[in-house]
Amino acid sequence: MSHISGNDNRDSFGSKFGVIAATAGSAVGLGNIWRFPYIAGENGGGAFLIIYLLFIILIGLPVMLSELTIGRSTQRNPFGAFRALKPGQKWFWVGVMGIAAAFMINAFYSVVAGWTLEYLVKAVTDQFSGKAPGEIVGQFNSFQATGWRPLMWTISFIVISGSVVMTGVEKGIEKFTKVLMPILVVLIVILDIRAITLPGASEGLKFLFEPDFSKITGASILEALGQAFFSLSIGMGTLITYGSYINKKENLGQATVAVAFTDTIIAILAGVAIFPAVFAFGISPASGPDLVFLTLPNIFSQMAGGYIFGLLFFFLLTVAALTSTISILEVVVAYFSEELNMSRKKATILASVGIAVLGILSSLSLHKAPGISIAGVNLFGVLEFVSSNVLLPLGGLLIVVFVAWLFGKKHLKEELTSFGLYKASYYRIYLFIIRYIAPFAIALVLMNSIGIIRF
Ligand code: PFF
Repeated sequence: MSHISGNDNRDSFGSKFGVIAATAGSAVGLGNIWRFPYIAGENGGGAFLIIYLLFIILIGLPVMLSELTIGRSTQRNPFGAFRALKPGQKWFWVGVMGIAAAFMINAFYSVVAGWTLEYLVKAVTDQFSGKAPGEIVGQFNSFQATGWRPLMWTISFIVISGSVVMTGVEKGIEKFTKVLMPILVVLIVILDIRAITLPGASEGLKFLFEPDFSKITGASILEALGQAFFSLSIGMGTLITYGSYINKKENLGQATVAVAFTDTIIAILAGVAIFPAVFAFGISPASGPDLVFLTLPNIFSQMAGGYIFGLLFFFLLTVAALTSTISILEVVVAYFSEELNMSRKKATILASVGIAVLGILSSLSLHKAPGISIAGVNLFGVLEFVSSNVLLPLGGLLIVVFVAWLFGKKHLKEELTSFGLYKASYYRIYLFIIRYIAPFAIALVLMNSIGIIRF
């Protein structure tokens, strides 16, 4: 057995499929469908995709496995996990950093998730069809200009996500994601089929898959790393938390590969759903965070069957966002309830109120109150940049270094093989990567981003 005894009263996932559904539910989200396509669009399409895939394999997989290992071995929240493994040392700060990142990500994420609710309602009430491009932009702007509507949706989203988390791990999170994740996969495949049968779709596919390395800069490499961390939900303890609910008999290596594979395929499928449509209707692929909300309704308004595809798309986006926000919220709730001895209910309410306050401020900072900014960047942008491009890579770096050098080889092997139940034939290469490759790769990209070195 592990040298840290688990807590018998703790909630846990009830099945292997539940583990994969919940973890993939965390990974697959706005990051795949809203963020990946526009970031790829801004950074050269195919060339970005190659760097991104390289980071997923070389850095993403090992960090993910390391996090799940820490969580499963200690059966605690990120803060408690590090304190249990290295009592009296400063490692618990990695957990603290993760909890801070959870607040930040949940805040700006819930803003965009709120927009998806507004757009789901717009799609259901058929507000795109027959609209000219200018009218679609006008719709978005007047939605933002109301001031209260985005806030109302952000708060609604936080409440929905809180009500799932409040019901617990197996009866809430697992039950919910087991139903929603398969629906999500079916929806995206339907949208892909529609997109690639559009006239002129091949231009979009070429953009997504044909690499043009002249578009790659130091900044795009950092974007690729940040996006890989964000998309896999790694570097902040979400997977320590979910790992802590995984049964000792589960094969962690297998779960890691299944989740990373699902996440990457869904990001690519989202690109395949979006770029052919973008090109078919002559829109610039690099139109930034608005891509999904401005250009897609435009496409739905002109496309045959646009009503139903628009509806499916925004439903898909809402579901994807929800299974991710629940995992981010769970990080904070696990910490509050285990370390500060709160009931799950009280912890969820307290965390949600904190996230709502930060979410409201970051929503206002985008349109209504641009004065809410730091160093000239609106709060939304600051939260997005600092969490994805700084805190997650930094957290990931410390996590792999910890597992590589301080966790103990015997302990690590026990976890990866589930105490001899599985073979873990990848053990040596994994150890090599987390000792000698991943930390240096992450450190290089991070130093480049803070300006210590320049590629
Ligand atoms: N992975 C999610 C996405 O791609 O949308 C976002 C996310 C969830 C990031 C959970 C971090 C996290 F801990």
